[in-house]
Amino acid sequence: MNNRVTELLHIRYPLIQAPLYFLTSAELVAAVSNAGGLGTLGPHAGQDSLPGSRYIALDRMRKEIRKVKALTANPFAVTLINGPDMSFWRPTAEMLVEEGVEVVLINEVLDAEIYDFFKRHRIKTLYRALTPTIANSKEAEKLGADIIIATGFDEGGTVPCRVIGTFSIVPMIADSVKIPVIAAGGIGDVRGVRAAMALGAEGVFAGSLFLTALENPADEKVKRLIVNSSAEDLLLFRTQPAYYRTLPTDLSPKLAELEAQDTDRETMFKAMNGYHSLWQAMRLGNFDQGVVSTGTGISVIKSVRPAAQIVADLMQDF
Ligand SMILES: Cc1cc2nc3c(=O)[nH]c(=O)nc-3n(C[C@H](O)[C@H](O)[C@H](O)COP(=O)(O)O)c2cc1C
Repeated sequence: MNNRVTELLHIRYPLIQAPLYFLTSAELVAAVSNAGGLGTLGPHAGQDSLPGSRYIALDRMRKEIRKVKALTANPFAVTLINGPDMSFWRPTAEMLVEEGVEVVLINEVLDAEIYDFFKRHRIKTLYRALTPTIANSKEAEKLGADIIIATGFDEGGTVPCRVIGTFSIVPMIADSVKIPVIAAGGIGDVRGVRAAMALGAEGVFAGSLFLTALENPADEKVKRLIVNSSAEDLLLFRTQPAYYRTLPTDLSPKLAELEAQDTDRETMFKAMNGYHSLWQAMRLGNFDQGVVSTGTGISVIKSVRPAAQIVADLMQDF
């Protein structure tokens, strides 16, 4: 069953595996794309060390893209920009054109030059605001974004600055633009997919669920912790720019204590070990040095499975 999303992205199923910072790889992305969804390479995909510079990171990403191309002939996406800093977009965009990448994910940035660049090169753009609003969605549509990802407060990773859940954000954004909207945040099984489609989404964007995929490079301890936990185990704490969640780690009691004392966001961000938090705890399994971030949809995730099984399970109605 095709819809606007499958037709625009040339994929079988309207399901996107979300970028997960250090926790994606060519193997994961190719497995999702081979199964008919759209895999996405996130920042530092497939790496087992942090890069010394942005140029090294760019070169590593090119190599990871080539690995994906060796593993699948199907389309996949790459994260162009991961936050408000767009200073390095052009070298990245040129590399993506050279490598024949068909879909890019643009976080936050609304800049006509960037959307025009990709239109010219016939590359599809997914726009995802950290905090989706009617205004930023309309602006993305005006600039020529192909699809909008509407993310609810249920999501894992850096959560939106406004506390609007997926059930509320999806119809709000779907009613405000004509281009397709994809739902993100809290989707853990086929019931989440059905709900998203009923709310006006034309596809789903799932992150936490793919942390538990067999091919995900996350530490095994992390996968076990997720399948043995529910949303009740998550600690929500303030940090920069808004909030984060963590399952219990050796660091989380300290974060809970600081949160209870109304500690400021900058101090909280340092206490969580900044963005190295995910590298340390989730990639390397050092639970004393970071957090295990997931969305609130994890209660329904019961096993570690190959990505293809996750895709088949979620897309059983299509
Ligand atoms: C551990 C983790 C890391 C994430 N890192 C990124 C990232 O680097 N870039 C990004 O755009 N989104 C990131 N996200 C957000 C996801 O792309 C996606 O929006 C989110 O996972 C959807 O909600 P769900 O986790 O409930 O499925 C991350 C999410 C998680 C759980």
